[in-house]
Amino acid sequence: MTMVLDDVVARESRHVLQTYRRNPVTFVRGEGVRLWDAEGREYLDLLSGIGVAALGHSHPALTRAITEQAQTLIHTSNLFYNPFQGQLAERLANLSGLQRAFFCNSGTEAVEACMKFARRYWHTRKEPRAEFIALEESFHGRTFGSLSVTSDEHYRVPFEPLLPTVKFVAVNDPAAIKAAVTASTAAVIAEPVQGEGGIRPLTPAFASAMAEACAKTGTLLIADEVQSGLGRTGYPFYFAALGLKPHLVAVGKALGGGVPIGAAIVSQEVADTISFGDHGSTYGGNLLACRAGLCVLDELVGGGVLAHVARVGRHFEQRLKSIAAKHAFVKEVRGKGLMWGLQLDRDAAPVVPAALAQGVVVNRTSETVVRLLPPLVITEAEVDDALGRLDAALDAVGAAA
Ligand SMILES: Cc1ncc(COP(=O)(O)O)c(C=O)c1O
Repeated sequence: MTMVLDDVVARESRHVLQTYRRNPVTFVRGEGVRLWDAEGREYLDLLSGIGVAALGHSHPALTRAITEQAQTLIHTSNLFYNPFQGQLAERLANLSGLQRAFFCNSGTEAVEACMKFARRYWHTRKEPRAEFIALEESFHGRTFGSLSVTSDEHYRVPFEPLLPTVKFVAVNDPAAIKAAVTASTAAVIAEPVQGEGGIRPLTPAFASAMAEACAKTGTLLIADEVQSGLGRTGYPFYFAALGLKPHLVAVGKALGGGVPIGAAIVSQEVADTISFGDHGSTYGGNLLACRAGLCVLDELVGGGVLAHVARVGRHFEQRLKSIAAKHAFVKEVRGKGLMWGLQLDRDAAPVVPAALAQGVVVNRTSETVVRLLPPLVITEAEVDDALGRLDAALDAVGAAA
């Protein structure tokens, strides 16, 4: 390790709570899809800080918006009107077809808000329904509510007891979801493309069975689009591609392009059951975060990023599939747009350092999956370069096995 890294690691290991197993790299600068570490080495970023830096790093418009807002006014709290929250809520309403947004600071808070609003809906209707149905392989966040609908035992067990009213259903099993949802279910929560669970899009057959089960019983549907939403799949929201009409949608990650912001977007029918004081956040949707959100949505829609993802996503898919076909230990390629997973027949952990050695940033999820979430602005030439490096990393992993 070098001097800079040694110093960083030593200080963190003394004073930062050790909840993260970090890769031995300190990134200090970024531009577009490129990152530089403290030693000046350049990398291509196929992870975007886990799906956050949708516009890439140091995007000129986002940098300008944040700088200007920081020089004007950063935060006032939700005790006062905010010149940007209504604008951002209006844009999210236009993109989602749902009327109203509640702003928070992260994905888990967005899920938490959706779960509280679902409970509040049934409470207001004087038909208290407590039960949530979630899917196996799901990931919705680390706070107690979100963790309660997250399936992975590894995340759950040390913190039990969690919410007692959660049932898990096998993903992409239409009969199972139909059997599970009843007139006591408050809400079904699902990621239209499961992210941490290994990049698993819901099948249209499962989505329609889920929609039918919800419609039949009056159950609310919560779409967790924290990872899959806002352009990642080439659609504003992947629920629309599946023909779903959720009552509540959770967003986060890409919304601020790196500035923390999340939102629960809800239908007017749900909104009508919520009262003043039911939920709140000191920071949620402050001026700085909303300016960032407005800039990201500007670029996504007016700036042509969505259309770009649809195009470059097809190129990414073709290149990735042809590379995957060369490596016998890659069993399946799953994803949409610029959200991809390589299912390996083994632990994917060695791929991450091998990729870093080739100058490309990727991630392992669900133990055996290599996850790729590049900035949405990646060009075809950058895709070729980055996937060429991943190919070399897979060669190295294959040779070492
Ligand atoms: C689908 C989904 N929901 C919720 C979350 C939690 O978001 P955060 O880490 O911002 O709390 C994540 C994070 O990976 C996610 O992928």
